[in-house]
Amino acid sequence: MEILRTITEVREYVVGQRARGARIGLVPTMGYFHAGHLELMRRAGGAGYTVVVSIFVNPTQFGPGEDYERYPRDLARDAQMAQTAGADVLFVPEAAEMYPSGYGTYVQVEGVSEGLCGAARPGHFRGVATVVCKLFNIVQPEAAFFGQKDYQQVMVIKRMAADLNLPVAITVVPTVREADGLAMSSRNTYLSPEERRQALALYQALRLGERLIKSGERRAAAVETALREGLQKPGVRLDYAEVRRAGDLARVEVIEDDAVLLVAAWVGQTRLIDNLVVGV
Ligand code: PAJ
Repeated sequence: MEILRTITEVREYVVGQRARGARIGLVPTMGYFHAGHLELMRRAGGAGYTVVVSIFVNPTQFGPGEDYERYPRDLARDAQMAQTAGADVLFVPEAAEMYPSGYGTYVQVEGVSEGLCGAARPGHFRGVATVVCKLFNIVQPEAAFFGQKDYQQVMVIKRMAADLNLPVAITVVPTVREADGLAMSSRNTYLSPEERRQALALYQALRLGERLIKSGERRAAAVETALREGLQKPGVRLDYAEVRRAGDLARVEVIEDDAVLLVAAWVGQTRLIDNLVVGV
């Protein structure tokens, strides 16, 4: 597995692979890998792609006062893990490689970027869409792999790819969880042992909401109340708990199509998100 630092090197690598008939699968990440990241790489490799994994803690998607500086970084560890998961190349650019001085272009996806995490983190999805669009243009992959864990992010990227006619197939990989159900996240490393136990409230609330819908409840407000109650636990501070239509994140009053339950909450100083799709 090679580690490439510059856009020129990645472009040369991709041109070489294509000349040999390879198809490129891109896995964009911010590093500090866990089993969720590795699953994306395995899916890409398993589908026959040459697997390019980017590691870039993208400054434009972090707001002021968020965790950009202290976001966990460990390239040696990541490189070892990515290799075992079948990555062919790691692309690890510096911030100045992606955003040289004078940089001035951003991608704003309207509609699906609004509300949910877009409300709590203004500018976040603008940063995500911008960096993913740049990565698509740099790597020019046939396919890109994203986790369902970041449900709204997937919807933003699908919208962007469709609206900007980007020739990339977006594959969504189910959320990988710890044995007790907590969604894997690089930010879980911030949690103290007590917070780690409290963090389980997110998944438990989602399962509660799921059970309600499965037992026939169709009023979104009733399900949202149950989600909020499930998150009323010591050490947990609610950000949002919502029921949306799974296909397009539209708000619903009555659940008629597959729904997605989405929650975000603070556990200590750490903001966690999770979601569950419930078929009806
Ligand atoms: P990051 O949080 O590192 O996540 C990289 C990819 O891994 C994303 O597609 C995310 O949804 C997926 N992922 C995270 N946790 C997962 C889990 N438990 N199960 C399955 N997949 C999981 O998301 C980002 O980085 C950034 O916003 C990025 C898209 C790279 C743009 O900077």
